[in-house]
Amino acid sequence: MAELRGILLMRALLFASVFCLLTQSVRSDTPANCTFEDIVGTWVLYETPRNGDHTLDCLNNKENAVNKVQLQLLKPNVAVDQYGNRGHWTLIYNQGFEITVNQRIYFAFSSFAQNGSEVLSFCDKTLAGWSHDTMTHNWACFQGKHMAQRAPKIHSQSLGKNLNGIYVSNTEVINSINKKQNSWTAKAYSWMEGMSHENLLKMRGGIKSKIHSRPPIAPVSPFVRRQAEFLPDEWDWRNVSGVNYVPAVKNQGSCGSCYAFSSLGMLESRLRVATKNQLQVNFSPQDIVSCSTYSQGCEGGFPYLVAGKYAQDHGVVAEECYPYTGRDSTCSAAKKCGRTYVAKYRYVGGYYGACNEELMKLSLVESGPLSVSFEVYPDFMHYAGGVYHRTDELLNQVNKYDPFELTNHAVLLVGYGTDAETKEDYWIVKNSWGTRWGENGFFRIRRGVDECGIESIAVEVTPIP
Ligand SMILES: *[C@@H]1O[C@H](CO)[C@@H](O)[C@H](O)[C@H]1NC(C)=O
Ligand SMILES: *[C@@H]1O[C@H](CO)[C@@H](O)[C@H](O)[C@H]1NC(C)=O
Ligand SMILES: *[C@@H]1O[C@H](CO)[C@@H](O)[C@H](O)[C@H]1NC(C)=O
Repeated sequence: MAELRGILLMRALLFASVFCLLTQSVRSDTPANCTFEDIVGTWVLYETPRNGDHTLDCLNNKENAVNKVQLQLLKPNVAVDQYGNRGHWTLIYNQGFEITVNQRIYFAFSSFAQNGSEVLSFCDKTLAGWSHDTMTHNWACFQGKHMAQRAPKIHSQSLGKNLNGIYVSNTEVINSINKKQNSWTAKAYSWMEGMSHENLLKMRGGIKSKIHSRPPIAPVSPFVRRQAEFLPDEWDWRNVSGVNYVPAVKNQGSCGSCYAFSSLGMLESRLRVATKNQLQVNFSPQDIVSCSTYSQGCEGGFPYLVAGKYAQDHGVVAEECYPYTGRDSTCSAAKKCGRTYVAKYRYVGGYYGACNEELMKLSLVESGPLSVSFEVYPDFMHYAGGVYHRTDELLNQVNKYDPFELTNHAVLLVGYGTDAETKEDYWIVKNSWGTRWGENGFFRIRRGVDECGIESIAVEVTPIP
């Protein structure tokens, strides 16, 4: 009897999942806010037939689910399937999760609904996602349901801020940054003057990259601390024994594609490192903006899903193949272009929430630059040089009308050191705002204190030369 009920329930669920797969919206965007506590527990994934088609469009899938996979997601990163096989999983910020178990990888964004500024996160369900074996041969679409139904989480997304109008720098703000501290200097950038607030928002990460919450940095194990003790006091991939492994600074323009520049910058540099600087390519961020269904074009995205997942599943192409326009468009990458893939990708530490300074230094020195992200506060736009730390909490009173939105900006970590005078530890980071910004397009930021979250979400990958 119980068994029959089980079968009926499963049919009902399969039916419901088919319905949801059909009503999926065309392009996923992700105002959802699903955190660790929301996702742990038992999931059932309803999967469509598996086939060899890697171009499978799961966001518009019309096939019925035929497979059921049951998985337990345990703390902090252990996944166990219905046969008892153990694998691993990670959250991707607060957007969704990826599970690897029994030689198969499952990824989906969490489900949500949005009405005006009100967002409902359905953290016990996923949007239609993709699954394939670890060799990326057999593909399927799936939808996940948490066994414990949860009430939707509600938050409001501030659409209220008026992004109309143009940016005018505030001399009072700049002077007060420079007066309050002497770690870094601020200045007005004439090329920013007159830009629309909306385009400035895209420069900092994009509309979909707003900050929700971050995990605290992970404690350092005694083993990792001992390993890190052997690292040099300073490191800079722009000059390792006179050799530069970091291609020129680029300019993303008014497109929220920082995550693509950060991701491809990591692949470019790591390929140079892996080939003693023989393989020097520039990859195409336009291919990511226009063709990746794992990110949101000019509205934002995450390096884990680009440098990692997109590069493993579909590969990236050279800049010449698909030159950058900095605008959303339909995908038109030439089929004949060669593609470069990654063999491995992961959050530093193994999963989102396991990152810390020592692990970042170890990965950086051993394998090359890392994709990192941090919170952009208003004062950062004025950075001209020095070791950045956030000062703007002191400045709120100065700027009454401020359409600034806190965003998540992805950049490339290339080195670290300690300031000779102030003794401040810093990271050296490559930005994608051209060479006219900061220290010839780079900046330094405080190290060891998770300044603006910079030690919370580093991604490392192994590209295949
Ligand atoms: C969206 O919100 C508005 C105002 O709060 C409400 O009147 C409307 O019914 C809502 N629409 C849906 C589809 O829930
Ligand atoms: C997102 O969820 C976390 C944990 O439930 C919460 O602390 C945070 O405030 C939420 N963020 C928003 C914008 O609602
Ligand atoms: C690289 O570093 C070495 C040692 O610090 C220095 O002598 C040299 O001038 C640097 N090269 C460049 C191109 O900056």
